[in-house]
Formats: sequence, C-alpha cells, structure tokens
Amino acid sequence: MTRRKVSIIGAGQVGATCAHWLAQKQLADIVLLDIVEGLAQGKALDLYEASPVGRFDVRITGTGDYRDTAQSDIVIITSGLPRKPGMSRDDLLATNARIVADVTRQVVAHSPQTILIVVSNPLDVMVAVAAEVGQLPKQRILGMAGILDTARYRSFIAEALQVSVTDILAILLGGHGDDMVPLPRYTSVGGVPLTELMDAETIDRIVDRTRNGGIEIVNLLAKGSAFYAPSAGAVEMVQAILQDQRRILCCCAWCDQEYNVGGHFVGVPIVLGANGVEKVIELDLTEPEKQLFSASVRHVAELTATLTTMGI
Ligand code: NAI
Ligand code: 2OP
Repeated sequence: MTRRKVSIIGAGQVGATCAHWLAQKQLADIVLLDIVEGLAQGKALDLYEASPVGRFDVRITGTGDYRDTAQSDIVIITSGLPRKPGMSRDDLLATNARIVADVTRQVVAHSPQTILIVVSNPLDVMVAVAAEVGQLPKQRILGMAGILDTARYRSFIAEALQVSVTDILAILLGGHGDDMVPLPRYTSVGGVPLTELMDAETIDRIVDRTRNGGIEIVNLLAKGSAFYAPSAGAVEMVQAILQDQRRILCCCAWCDQEYNVGGHFVGVPIVLGANGVEKVIELDLTEPEKQLFSASVRHVAELTATLTTMGI
C-alpha cells in the first residue's frame, strides 16, 4: 500500500497541533514546514521522539523546503498571523493574503494533485486567495472553520444539558466571522430536536457565545488564538478525505448556484470524501435564516472585494 502524505504549512500553534493529532491517529506521513529556520525541524523531531511512547508509527519531517512536500495527498495551510486581543479576524487580511498566496503558489507547484485545506484567517477570503493562486479544481479546495464553530456550539449545548458532547449534531452556515449562522432548527441531541429540549433564551445565549467563541479564547490567551479545537477540526477533514468517509461536515466550500451564493467560498454542510467536496448539501431555509446567511455571505464578498482594491 502506498503511504499517504499530509503536509502542514506553518509550524505554529495550529500547524504543530495538527501534526500531533495526525500522528496520534496515524493517518499519514507528515511534513511540517515553516519559514522560521529550525522551528518545523525542531517540532517535527520532538514529535517523532514522542512516537515510541505515544505508539504511533509515521514519518515526521520538519523542513523549510517545499521540495519535501512534493506529491502530498493533502496540504493544510496554517501559515499567517493569529489575532491578538482587540483585533478582528478581518484585521489580518492584507498580511495573511500575501502569505497564503505565496505559500499556495509553492505548494501547488510541488503537489498539483493535492487537496488544499486552508485554516489561515480571515478564513473564507483566504480560501478564495488560495483558489485564485492555486487554480485547482474547486472540489479540491476547502477551508476549515465550520467544524470548529459547530464544535464550540455543540460543546456549549452538551454542557448546558449535561449530556455527552458526542450526542450533539449541528449545522452552521456562513463565513467564519461574528455573523456566522448556527441553525438550532438543524441541531439535535441524540436524535431529539434541540428546540424540544432547550428554551429559546438559552439557545440564543449559546448561539451568541458560539459567534464570539474565537475572541473568548483570544482574550484568555492574550498572545494568540485557539489551536486545539481548530487543529482537531482540520484533522477531522483529513480523515474524512483519506478514508473516503463521506462525512457530512460544515466546511468552507465553493458555492455558486447553491443557496444562490453567486460564486464565493463560504461555510455550508458538504459531503466530504476522497475527491474533496463530493456535494454541497442545500437545506430548505426559513426566511429569517436566509437573511442571516445572505448577510454573512455579503460580509465575505465585501472583504474579498477589499482585497482586490488593495491589488492583492
Ligand atoms: P502561529 O503564529 O502560532 O503560527 C503561524 C506560523 O506560520 C508561524 O510559525 C509562522 O512562522 C508561520 N509562517 C508565517 N509566514 C509563513 C510563510 N510565508 N511560510 C511558512 N510559514 C509561515 O499562529 P496559529 O495560532 O497557528 O494560527 C495560524 C493561522 O490560523 C492564523 O491566521 C489564525 O488566525 C488562523 N486560525 C484560523 C482558525 C479557523 O477556524 N479557520 C482557527 C485558529 C486559527
Ligand atoms: C477562532 O475562531 C482564531 O478564527 C479562530 O478561534
């Protein structure tokens, strides 16, 4: 059997933790790349040295050279600045767009058949940048955010109801911003609709906390942003692709006719399998849900347009 290969660009908090989860799950050989001399090499070596104890048996390479990423099945892009207290994800726009564009060019030159999972923020626009530069089929370019946002939402619901987190299933639409759209109507607890188990006021409070989930962590950490849950989300996507699981997951994917989005990368439920986006699942939304989703898509579109104005 040929060995599978996953490269991770950016060996910071999210990138290195992706490598950790991936190694523990033994999903593929791992290449960790960073622009900072020695960082990826040091973390990769440290992780490899943990393998006899952690009992995982994969090759882990740290590098600054894109040739080591050649022929990757999947590349996760985490390179870029994280936000600090007082910053919004949108404040990272110009700097991270330049980084993501440069990285994507080099990634695709060495792995033209790869599936790209972008994590860098502001997420939806960074996926668009990578798509523009990489020119990969749209099925093979995705962003990770919806899994993180639904994971937050699911964990807050489990905590409030005092039930297992594994029993909460949920769907969330829109961009990875304060206007994301958790859908209580499509949230269930062990198969029971959430709306039968929780009053509207508590649901609203949880939706609000979910929308502010990123800044809650930023304010606590003071020096960076979340990384355990985001990297777990990216690795869930890797697993769905490498094992052709056809999972239904909320991811940032290309939508044109779908939901009448009109050609943007935004968060929607998809079927995720060996080819990347196998299908975008279209839900029958109520008028208020449609309006919230449209507002979120409009925000993504405006931010993308800002980038064009900046000439990036
Ligand atoms: P970090 O600062 O810990 O790591 C970023 C790494 O990227 C650094 O090691 C840096 O040296 C590297 N880097 C910068 N420019 C590079 C280049 N041109 N080539 C290769 N490597 C380069 O940041 P962290 O916490 O890992 O976050 C990474 C990004 O992911 C941020 O933009 C953050 O906002 C975003 N993020 C997105 C989430 C989502 O849900 N989509 C969740 C969490 C973080
Ligand atoms: C988050 O939501 C930083 O976007 C990242 O935690």
